[in-house]
Amino acid sequence: MKENKTFTMIKPDAVANGHIGAILDQIIKAGFKIKAMKYVALSEQIAGQFYEVHKERPFYGELVEFMSSGPIVAAILEKDNAVEDFRKLIGATDPAKADKGTIRQLFAESIGANAIHGSDSAENAEIEGNFFFSAFEKF
Ligand code: RTP
Ligand code: MG
Repeated sequence: MKENKTFTMIKPDAVANGHIGAILDQIIKAGFKIKAMKYVALSEQIAGQFYEVHKERPFYGELVEFMSSGPIVAAILEKDNAVEDFRKLIGATDPAKADKGTIRQLFAESIGANAIHGSDSAENAEIEGNFFFSAFEKF
């Protein structure tokens, strides 16, 4: 994956609350192109593997439990400056601190159930995209 790609997941809270359509609409209107997409339920084992980088953080157990609590939408997105622009679009990790109009301010419930994931670097975007998608699932 190149520098113009990022990876996202619409998290279980946003899916359960019926926000898939509204969130995808914001993402597309912000100029991101969908390069891969799937609707899946992660097992605890798979969620644990995905968040391995956070293994030592105090919230790891909660995070893994939450991310395997219901289906998610995973996608690879393309746009110039994708990682940074997408992090701006989703807002701060804690929705109480997220700017007005950001996806987390609009749709997230709490710092744990915060509606959406966005990669924090181009390198991690590539790793995360490859975790979910094989070559023939990317366009
Ligand atoms: P993400 O990776 O999901 O886009 O979120 P982020 O970069 O804004 O935050 P990060 O530090 O990577 O944390 C990953 C996810 O862990 C949960 N979290 N819970 N209870 C807590 O204090 C806490 N801190 C982080 C959040 O769901 C966060 O998105
Ligand atoms: Mg992160």
